[in-house]
Amino acid sequence: MCGIIGYTGTDGAVGDVLLTGLEGLEYRGYDSAGVAIADESLAVHKREGEVAALEAALPDTGLGGTAGIGHTRWSTHGPPTDANAHPHTDCAESVAVVHNGIIENYQTLRADLEAGGHEFTSETDTEVIPHLIETALATGASPEAAFREAVSQLEGSYAVAAVFPGSETVYAARHESPLVLGIGDDGHYLASDVPAFIEYTDRVVYLEDGQFARVNPSGIVVTDAQGAVVETAVEQIAWDPEDAGKAGYDHYMLKEINEQPQALRQCLRERVSELDGTVTIDELAALEPTGPVQFVACGTSYHAALYGARFLRAQGVPAQCFLASEYTVDQLPVGEETLVVGVTQSGETADTMSALRAANRVGATTLALTNTVGSSAARECDHVMYIRAGPEISVAATKTFASQQVALAMLAATLAGETPTALCERLRALPDQVQQVLDMSNARAVAEAYEASDAYFFIGRGYNAPVALEGALKMKEITYKHAEGFAAGELKHGPLALVGEQTPVFAMVTGDASASKTLGNIKEVEARDAPVVAVTDSPAVVGQYADHVLEVPSAGPRLTPVLANVQLQLVAYWVANRLGRSIDKPRNLAKSVTVE
Ligand code: G6P
Repeated sequence: MCGIIGYTGTDGAVGDVLLTGLEGLEYRGYDSAGVAIADESLAVHKREGEVAALEAALPDTGLGGTAGIGHTRWSTHGPPTDANAHPHTDCAESVAVVHNGIIENYQTLRADLEAGGHEFTSETDTEVIPHLIETALATGASPEAAFREAVSQLEGSYAVAAVFPGSETVYAARHESPLVLGIGDDGHYLASDVPAFIEYTDRVVYLEDGQFARVNPSGIVVTDAQGAVVETAVEQIAWDPEDAGKAGYDHYMLKEINEQPQALRQCLRERVSELDGTVTIDELAALEPTGPVQFVACGTSYHAALYGARFLRAQGVPAQCFLASEYTVDQLPVGEETLVVGVTQSGETADTMSALRAANRVGATTLALTNTVGSSAARECDHVMYIRAGPEISVAATKTFASQQVALAMLAATLAGETPTALCERLRALPDQVQQVLDMSNARAVAEAYEASDAYFFIGRGYNAPVALEGALKMKEITYKHAEGFAAGELKHGPLALVGEQTPVFAMVTGDASASKTLGNIKEVEARDAPVVAVTDSPAVVGQYADHVLEVPSAGPRLTPVLANVQLQLVAYWVANRLGRSIDKPRNLAKSVTVE
């Protein structure tokens, strides 16, 4: 998804900051990149492909200048070409603009501008912005007034930044797309997300929807839509740049899989008492007991929500799960008594935000379960619970999924009012058990045995059913191979037709009442010559039914699936590694999808 970086400073560091920033935004997924430096005139450089391709195309003499903006583009309007890459300029090159989001009325604006003589050089929705600014400048407006005038005509979602030749100022505005400002010693930053400038500063100001920012080497001024200056709070970010590096791993994904014990410890810290079975989530102290719960989420977070909904129902709390893109408040019983929970690691996913905003409009109580402090979900929901997984860079979500599972188990306890002491004990033991799985896993050997397979199937029942879906999603995301996950009982209602010698079936069989039924499903696939990999906490029994076993310790029927998932993450990672895939940045995918 598109990423923005901007810097203004008198230390001659603009070029370095922009390029470092673009690299820090790569994790969001992108297909072209560019920068614009404002000196006496504008210098714009942009390239299809990776940031490295852009760097190779830059002048050897450096970029110079005091103010600059940069962008990683994830194509929406027009293919990934040099021309469609940001920044975009007007006819006279009097402004350069970068944008994240979608301008919904761009066709009307573009038609009007073209009728007025403006010539467009790209297919993007974004390009209307510099031309609108040019139109306002022609009436004698100042750069700031022209920027505000242009933004006031936009409908849709946007984070926008602009620089003008001969000016040290970066102008910015946001509406439903993220933008954060950074306070440095020698200059000031703006970006879509903190990792873009965390190497330089950890002091940040989050821009709110409808706000504008004027960013100068000496300071930042935030104003509202009317131009009145807004008081802002400077927050200190706890991430250190070391956290955002690969720390010796070949890929962020493997690093993040290995960080899961620590992530879960952070998620549980000071929240669970195994002495008396109480769970205390400080952030949720003001959450009154509510009626039914509706989860909205996408992708991996949706699988976590499916798992969480089951947890809630087991604790007596009615809970349903919806794909955020399919959530329609007018066709559902959603009222003031409903708690709508958005599960979203980024807190910025457009479909999830749209569902949460719809729930807010009809008066439901909303709760964001997110990893990202200051994200749109965190700020717009009535309540927020942080999963505390730390920064996740790899596009394929791993440690955030495990942290969501554990956070949802704690949310269930909070909403139910009490939790069995045994479950609290198990939650507290879970991080060490994840470490055990990481230490003893034979997933790499299993991956090597099946790296040439045509397709992979994943089955599980109950709490293992969402893990089967997640196992398949991880496999297809990073290996580009066909993978599907099913509730084990569904196998015989269709997917069995696809099963054969070249399609290993990964079966989660962990200690609950339904395990014997899943063993029956294993017999069904074996009869069709499909290899079976059992992920189980009962290797002695289940191993007799399987070609390979991925063992996990037992954490009880509800939590053992968290451990089973770690094995599946590792299998997917090692298959993708053997196939030489772009593991951290899989083709066509983005970490944070901010368009619907
Ligand atoms: C993208 C990512 C997925 C993620 C989904 C939802 O598709 O590639 O890994 O699960 O968005 O993201 P969220 O930030 O809302 O959890």
